Amino acid sequence: MIGKHYILTGATSGLGKSILTLLLDKQAHVTVLVRHPEKLASLQQKLGKAQLTIISCDLQSQSQILNLKDTFQGQTIDGIIYSAGLGYFKAIDQHTNAEMLETYALNLINFNLLLNILQPFLAQKPKIVGIGSQSAFLTQAYAAHYGASKAAFNQVLNALRIERPNYHVLTVNTGPIATPFHEKADPTLSFAKKYKHLMLNPDHLATQIIDAMITGKSEINAPKWMHILLRIYQISPRFIERHFTFLFKNKA
Ligand SMILES: NC(=O)c1ccc[n+]([C@@H]2O[C@H](COP(=O)([O-])OP(=O)(O)OC[C@H]3O[C@@H](n4cnc5c(N)ncnc54)[C@H](OP(=O)(O)O)[C@@H]3O)[C@@H](O)[C@H]2O)c1
Repeated sequence: MIGKHYILTGATSGLGKSILTLLLDKQAHVTVLVRHPEKLASLQQKLGKAQLTIISCDLQSQSQILNLKDTFQGQTIDGIIYSAGLGYFKAIDQHTNAEMLETYALNLINFNLLLNILQPFLAQKPKIVGIGSQSAFLTQAYAAHYGASKAAFNQVLNALRIERPNYHVLTVNTGPIATPFHEKADPTLSFAKKYKHLMLNPDHLATQIIDAMITGKSEINAPKWMHILLRIYQISPRFIERHFTFLFKNKA
């Protein structure tokens, strides 16, 4: 990874922040796309501009993403790590229109826009890392749009892997992580408190991601036990939803 150039989103918080630290430790050059550059100003002061480039970009804004075309002229990008994401843990009819659109824009649509914009600058064998979610594989009462956006994201990454065999596409299907994500998803923090003991450590997960980027893995499914249970559920999902409904209402 020494000297490689990676584009990272979500670098100001949670998992993205942990990934940033590890990439910098590996002596990679990282360009972060962030809506609040001031959050990383002190880090950049410490490192200098050679290793960390901060670009202000609100990933909800399609025009700001399209404008990145000029920013990267003449550069080579060895990989994109898309860690920005959001979700609202509430019923379908409780989502405002803005919340619903925001969820799909950040988690799905604007990833695709960014990929298209950066494609001309990608190296011969680039790495595309998408931070998905285990919620892509199960019915998500009270987080329907979040789960739907992650399921669609997952399918886009799977298709990309086939369409572009020279890309290393890594999908990270993760269960709950102990990050500030939960403060926005559910300000009462009732889900976060209830499942605190199950939460993954973002630094540990980031280490797994960096290792998978190096070894060329296609998927990380963490935690493993959750992934296995979800596989069993897929054998007869409607039956399990009908008879064990409480399992699907944990974000209520
Ligand atoms: N935490 C979990 O339990 C969990 C579980 C499964 C999957 N995931 C996925 O893991 C990924 C990382 O989430 P996290 O837990 O690290 O969440 P987080 O701590 O809330 O971080 C989200 C990151 O996305 C950035 N972001 C949000 N909206 C943006 C926008 N409009 N423009 C630019 N950047 C924006 C945030 O920037 P600001 O600092 O400016 O807000 C922040 O850096 C997400 O894709 C999430 O869906 C999380």
